[in-house]
Amino acid sequence: MSALQRQPGSLGSHPATSDIDALSDDDFDLALYLCYEVHYRTLTEADWEWDPGLLGFRSRLEQVFVDRLREEIGYVTTDGSTDVVSALDDLIRGRSGPSLSVYLSDSGTLEQFRELCVHRSVYHLREADPHSFGIPRLTGEAKAALVEIQYDEYGYGNAEYMHSALFAGTMTSLGLDATYGSYVENLPGVTLAMVNLTSMFALQRRWRAALVGHLAISHMTSVEPMYRYSQALARFGIGSDGRRFYDVHVNVDARHAAIARDRLVASLISAEPHLETDPLFGAAAVLMLEGRFERHLLDAWTLDRSSLVPWEMNARGSDL
Ligand SMILES: [Fe+2]
Ligand SMILES: [Fe+2]
Repeated sequence: MSALQRQPGSLGSHPATSDIDALSDDDFDLALYLCYEVHYRTLTEADWEWDPGLLGFRSRLEQVFVDRLREEIGYVTTDGSTDVVSALDDLIRGRSGPSLSVYLSDSGTLEQFRELCVHRSVYHLREADPHSFGIPRLTGEAKAALVEIQYDEYGYGNAEYMHSALFAGTMTSLGLDATYGSYVENLPGVTLAMVNLTSMFALQRRWRAALVGHLAISHMTSVEPMYRYSQALARFGIGSDGRRFYDVHVNVDARHAAIARDRLVASLISAEPHLETDPLFGAAAVLMLEGRFERHLLDAWTLDRSSLVPWEMNARGSDL
């Protein structure tokens, strides 16, 4: 991170990436996260957004990241007898593994829920922003469908109802710091890998169909966990203001899922059939990384440990 405190053009030599699991290595995923963050709300004073050295470094990390994703999920296809949206349904039916939301609603502690919010803050405090990069890359019905979803995500014109603002309200009600980026140093690779996936799809036009698949599967798997998280907060005595983020998603995400599945994905693939496998790649990657994330938290809690990275104990003070 200290490299980005210097002036653009001064990025040093690139570290070796062999023997690194790009889907869980804390330093690898923080480095990739920072490369993407300069396109959102950079965490440093200097403007690195189009620095050639940084873009080259990012490209190298991305290749390692994509290779690792392919290693895990391979090439997901529609097997010729079904369509893309039906294949998305099949991916959801094929999920396995423990459920974080079931655990938290049934028996998790308030401290564990706060920890979950710290992890999720890196995504929810800028919720909808990555997918907005997809708007100029789509046309016709797919573009209109994405904008319809995003309009709700941004509070249908009211800043206080933006989903990112609602999540900030949840964090505040739990006594957490809702400042953008405040917990980045405490996030492990398994958490940052999820936001890196979103940013990689968002910031490169060639991944536009994967971004759409990412949005669709995220909504198609949202309502039940959101309901359980709200139930958990109610069990902890958190009032409606603190639960609003989750309750709003219970109310709107079934409709968003239908728009994403039946209009956004279907229209894009109808217009660009050569991209057919990309929404499935995006969706499968989301489910795989989410599964690894949930197992990481549950495993840590089983051992009565924190799932976060204690900043003062890690060695991330070094250059990118
Ligand atoms: Fe949302
Ligand atoms: Fe939504």
